Amino acid sequence: MRETSRTGSTGYEMTTATIDTNEVLVDCQSVWKIFGKSAPAAMNAVVQQGLTKTQILQNYGCVVGVSDVSLQVRRGEIFCIMGLSGSGKSTLIRLLNKLIAPSAGKVLVKGKDLSSLTSAQLREVRAHHIGMVFQSVALLPNRTVLENTAFGLEVQGVGKAERYKVAEQALAKVGLSDWMSRYPSELSGGMQQRVGLARAITADPEVILMDEPFSALDPLIRRQLQDEFRQLTKELGKSAVFITHDLDEAIRIGDRIAIMKDGAIIQVGTAEEIVLNPADDYVAEFVAGISRLHLVRARSVMTPVEPFKVANPGCDIARLPKAPLDADINELIGLTMTSERDAVAVVDNGTVVGIITPRDLLRGVQGIPNEFSVSPAGTVLEAST
Ligand SMILES: Nc1ncnc2c1ncn2[C@@H]1O[C@H](COP(=O)(O)OP(=O)(O)O)[C@@H](O)[C@H]1O
Ligand SMILES: [Mg+2]
Repeated sequence: MRETSRTGSTGYEMTTATIDTNEVLVDCQSVWKIFGKSAPAAMNAVVQQGLTKTQILQNYGCVVGVSDVSLQVRRGEIFCIMGLSGSGKSTLIRLLNKLIAPSAGKVLVKGKDLSSLTSAQLREVRAHHIGMVFQSVALLPNRTVLENTAFGLEVQGVGKAERYKVAEQALAKVGLSDWMSRYPSELSGGMQQRVGLARAITADPEVILMDEPFSALDPLIRRQLQDEFRQLTKELGKSAVFITHDLDEAIRIGDRIAIMKDGAIIQVGTAEEIVLNPADDYVAEFVAGISRLHLVRARSVMTPVEPFKVANPGCDIARLPKAPLDADINELIGLTMTSERDAVAVVDNGTVVGIITPRDLLRGVQGIPNEFSVSPAGTVLEAST
């Protein structure tokens, strides 16, 4: 699929031509990270004997931080990594720009194996291709917001006039134009995070790595920043790897979500795919409390037309209210409530492709796909009743 990204109205000079959303920017191939003095021996034991995390700890005194992780981040996508504290999220994100080196496996950024780069090349990759924002932004207290924002460019040797110009544009993007000459101590936590984000985008990286950037913020500010971050990333045509321990945050921000447990990724998919088809009991428990209203789409719960006709011979399908395939449960409930009919026709390209019955709506609310339906992941589900 090719997609044209939207360019911001403020004219920030970023390349936002047609982008190829199939292009893989970060390719993580069977990556492991084992911590401890005997890590190489422990890694060998994993390869040769398939020892578990617990056995590695018992036999070698080593901690498995990341366990056989493979993932691809595509151009233009926001990829969230969600997991409880200690599940290996920070270790994994640090492997993506080689702040730490893997014990086994490969990380490729734009097709280049990071382990093959010289330190100068690696600096170049970090500066221009894969920038990072940490949870604590670590702003320099004696420098203004503008100077802090321009700091990354200063380190790269960009002249003052040029770096201030770019920093001003980045600050405008995050809504801090009026705060450029203030000092970090005068800023709220949310504003400091915005400065961190502005600093990350000054280098115009293709992928922005963020490790729980909003975790320390109050819920309201946090939600606001989540929405702004998503909007800004899309507007600039950037990709992001966003780490969080909060599934709600992952759903709000991510195009795809990877769920981590004990160093391994146990499921990757869109929020809808994960909610409808949790990979195991652990994921199912995680998603149990998540509202399906805005996640589950008509295509996942609709009844095919033929079985509907058989069960409802008197129904005139042409007179049902209509909704597109990607209408969410909330919209479908709204349509059903305001209509005199008891069902909604799902229309694609002018053709009715399915029917949403009240029973389908209830399934949607519970996150159970229709027994006839094809899951969003593309596999036909077995009849659930
Ligand atoms: N430098 C290190 N040395 C030893 N163990 C580490 C190191 N960094 C992380 N770990 C361990 O690796 C596991 C994953 O940690 P981390 O990636 O920080 O998890 P998360 O970010 O999901 O909370 C934890 O068990 C942690 O104790
Ligand atoms: Mg962490």
